[in-house]
Formats: sequence, C-alpha cells, structure tokens
Amino acid sequence: MRRNAHASELPVKKVLVTTVPGIEDLLLEEVSKLLPGKGDVRKGRVIYESACALDTDRLYRLVANLTLAEKVYAVLTEARAENLNDVREAVFSSLEDVKLILEPAASFAVEVERVGAHPFSSTDIAKVVGSVVQTLDPPPPVSLDDPDVVLYAELVESEFRLAIDLTPFVNLRDRGYRVYIHPSSLNPVVARALCKLARVSDESSFVDPMCGSGTIVIEGLLEAPRARGFGFDVKAEHIIGARANAAAAGVHAEFGVADVRKLANLLRGGVDAVITNPPYGIRERAVGGLREVYERLFEGAFSVLREGGRLVLLSPLKRLVARAASKLNWSPENVRKLDVGGLTTFAYVFIRA
Ligand SMILES: C[S@@+](CC[C@H](N)C(=O)[O-])C[C@H]1O[C@@H](n2cnc3c(N)ncnc32)[C@H](O)[C@@H]1O
Repeated sequence: MRRNAHASELPVKKVLVTTVPGIEDLLLEEVSKLLPGKGDVRKGRVIYESACALDTDRLYRLVANLTLAEKVYAVLTEARAENLNDVREAVFSSLEDVKLILEPAASFAVEVERVGAHPFSSTDIAKVVGSVVQTLDPPPPVSLDDPDVVLYAELVESEFRLAIDLTPFVNLRDRGYRVYIHPSSLNPVVARALCKLARVSDESSFVDPMCGSGTIVIEGLLEAPRARGFGFDVKAEHIIGARANAAAAGVHAEFGVADVRKLANLLRGGVDAVITNPPYGIRERAVGGLREVYERLFEGAFSVLREGGRLVLLSPLKRLVARAASKLNWSPENVRKLDVGGLTTFAYVFIRA
C-alpha cells in the first residue's frame, strides 16, 4: 500500500470495504469499532460513513487493523448511473478530488467491478473514467504496471462509486504467514469470522481438530493472543506446515497429529470452542469416511465442550451436518450462508447446553 501525501488533504468521509458474502454484518461491526460513524451492507460489501473526515493516518490505521476485509477503498463519489453518460457525469463531479490525489504528475490506473446486466462492459466504464481523468491539465499519465494511484470504479446494478484503492494489487486475505500452503486451505478472513462467531477471547481455549495448515488456530490466536489454541490433523505433513505457519505468524499454538475420531480423548480438560472446517469430500478426503468423521466430530465436540461452549463449523454438506447433529438432539443456534470462492457453504454455531 502506498502513501500519497495529497490524500491527507482529501475530504473523504466514506469507505467501501469488501469481504466474503455472508459475513458483511460481522465486518460492519468490526469497522464500527475502529471508526465512529454508520454503515450499510450490500452483498460482499460494507459502505461506511465516518463521523469525521478521514485523513491518511486514519485510513491507513483502518486498513492495518481490519481482519475481516479483503479490499478497502476511499470513496470519492457515489451516484445512480443508468448509462455511461451518468458515469461520466459522476466522475466529472469528483474531478477536483481526483486532481488533489494525482498532483503532481502522479500516474494512475483504473480498475472496474461491474455487477448486474448492463448494455456496456467493464472496459467501457474504465475508458469513460480514464478519459474524464485525462481532461485534467496536464493530463495525468496512465500506468497499468506501476501506477502511483489506482482508481476503482464500481457499478453494482445502478449504484456507481468512484474510489481510491487503499490496498492496490493486494487482497488482505493473503496473510503473510502462509509459508505452507494446504491444498484446501481456508480463506483466513472466513477463519477469522468463525473465530469471532465462536467468541474466542484471551480467557478462552479452543481447538480445530481438522486444522490442516492451521489457519483457524492462527487466526484465533491473532484475535486473542492469550487464548489457548490447539490444532490436530490426521496428516503429519499438515501439522508440520501448521507449525511453520504459526511460527511465521508469531503465535504460540499447540499442534499434534491426531484423528478427529479420538477427539473426546484428546482434551480431557475441556475447551470453550471447537472451530473447524471438515473435509467436504471434493478436494479433501475424510479419513474414516465423511459420515463417520462428521458424526464423530459432533460426538467429540459435545463431549469436550464446556457448558455454554460453542461448536462452529463450516461445511457445504447440509445433510451430513443435520444428521450428525440430530443424533445428539443438538440444534444450531445460528446458521449463515457464505459464498466462499464461488462455493455455497454454511457456518453453523451450536451451543453446548
Ligand atoms: C478442509 S481441510 C482443512 C483446511 C484448513 N482449515 C486450512 O486452512 O488449512 C480438512 C482437513 O481435515 C483433515 N482430516 C481428514 N480426515 C481427518 C480425520 N479423520 N481426523 C483428523 N483430520 C482429518 C485433512 O487432512 C485436512 O487437512
């Protein structure tokens, strides 16, 4: 992320923050804790109006502290746009602000996101935005490979926004600690959301009994560094990888090789939360069979959870979850639908009575 001296003078009051569809409410809560103001949610987005002007320091502090965000933008203008002419007018209306960020002689690129049916393409929108920006005198240079500023234009149905990309060329889900890549590793933003749903705190202990590369355990410990975080997996290579990832993240986790079917024997002292994304049987095989693994996971969680403790589970396999839970007469407190990389999946929260 580059700092731009001129952005400190910008009268930016709104940010657009994107995330995984299904956890927008959790992101809104997170933004609200970091910045006084109010916000709205859209699919995969939070649009947030700060109560105070956002100078660069505030914006960069926000970006640095968000854990559930994928991209962050500072909004320059918003308008209804039915056609390219409306887009052109909206960009013209914010040209003074664009000038402030682009001076002196800063190069720019335009990125576009278009959602909905329109009789024009994203490239058409990019051309309109670029051509309006180049009416500035002198016209700022375009650089697609190494721009000083990335302007972001989105048209979602007929909602148009022009913004500055505060996270250019990166996605905040790409955490730096991933030195070992698991073939089915979980998006860390989703892992963090699961930890929040499990109410992981410094006073709590939690376990991911099918932890793979340790994403959930690491995110839980980044959320609450004094918590006790345990991770197990049936495959030794994943546990070696999880340890390397935890070391890179600078967290202290307790990992071991174990089969989820032995969960009840692993943590006799009990834990406050079991948080996991078991195999779906698509890319990742369940050792012992899917049905057996889901049923034993539920039995194990039921036995190791303390009173009031939470089982938070992410899976697209609704029937298997329902079957395993019903065997224990256990009903979820809450189920939410997430779109994780194009796959519809469900985050369940079960509370141990
Ligand atoms: C979907 S992956 C978890 C990925 C992990 N959340 C991450 O980000 O790396 C499911 C994991 O369950 C493990 N697994 C499969 N059967 C198991 C069993 N019977 N006991 C424990 N772990 C098992 C697999 O080895 C795999 O690492």
